[in-house]
Amino acid sequence: MGKLDGKVAIITGAAQGMGEAHARRFVAEGAKVVLTDLNEERGQAIAKELGDNALFIRHDVTSPAEWKQVLQQAEQAFGTVTVLVNNAGILGPLVETTEFDEDEYLKVCAVNQHSQFYGMKTVIPSMQKAGGGAIVNISSTAGMVSIVGAPNLAYVGSKFASRGMTKHVAVQYGPDNIRVNSVHPGYIKTPMMAAATDADGGGITAQVPLRRMSDPDEVSSLVLFLASDDSSYISGMEHVIDGGLTAQ
Ligand SMILES: NC(=O)c1ccc[n+]([C@@H]2O[C@H](COP(=O)([O-])OP(=O)(O)OC[C@H]3O[C@@H](n4cnc5c(N)ncnc54)[C@H](O)[C@@H]3O)[C@@H](O)[C@H]2O)c1
Repeated sequence: MGKLDGKVAIITGAAQGMGEAHARRFVAEGAKVVLTDLNEERGQAIAKELGDNALFIRHDVTSPAEWKQVLQQAEQAFGTVTVLVNNAGILGPLVETTEFDEDEYLKVCAVNQHSQFYGMKTVIPSMQKAGGGAIVNISSTAGMVSIVGAPNLAYVGSKFASRGMTKHVAVQYGPDNIRVNSVHPGYIKTPMMAAATDADGGGITAQVPLRRMSDPDEVSSLVLFLASDDSSYISGMEHVIDGGLTAQ
């Protein structure tokens, strides 16, 4: 028996990195999974590999209209949606606040923060029809503290916003049996991280008490737990997974 038998999940940003790892784990645990991303080629290939319980939809998470289409196609393929993982995100440029271009600021907020609002607004009615659900919003340690090396204030601001919106929606929809939690990863080995650092992690592993970066699959274990009935009384909370980074 899988931990997600009978669940229908939407995972955004699932064509690579952590989103891909979550999609693979969810299907292995019995869920039917809709993978969405801008990267159609990789997304389609992963969904094909995962078989009949996976469907890829090209999706820009900053578009409310595309969210509606994603929900419609997901319900058509698999029925009401019971899990949403708002994972898609971007770093934006590594710049100081006084040098930060306004349009770049808005773009980071749109992808990291506004998308999570659109996703929750769109999918909650489907969860209400299903009698409940679990939402996992992917924030960051940058949504807990402003770590040295955080790329810019929009990244930190949008990840703090994700944490706050999580609590707001958890309180509002708890009576509908909808649980909402945020996940705050530290340094995880993904293409995003590779683009931001050099091969040894830019020396950042020395900052981490466990002295290593995490594999995406280690984060999948936490996301799986929060999506599954194993966490049936956990809602409105932030879950940090950072090898001890922010404990210092
Ligand atoms: N890697 C880390 O160390 C780390 C740490 C903390 C938090 N995070 C967060 O975890 C999440 C996943 O990060 P990752 O490292 O796997 O990143 P990644 O860059 O490897 O993958 C992100 C995916 O999101 C997709 N995406 C970007 N913009 C999109 C849009 N507008 N619409 C749809 N899809 C879009 C990309 O195409 C990509 O496939 C992000 O929210 C990120 O901020 C990452």
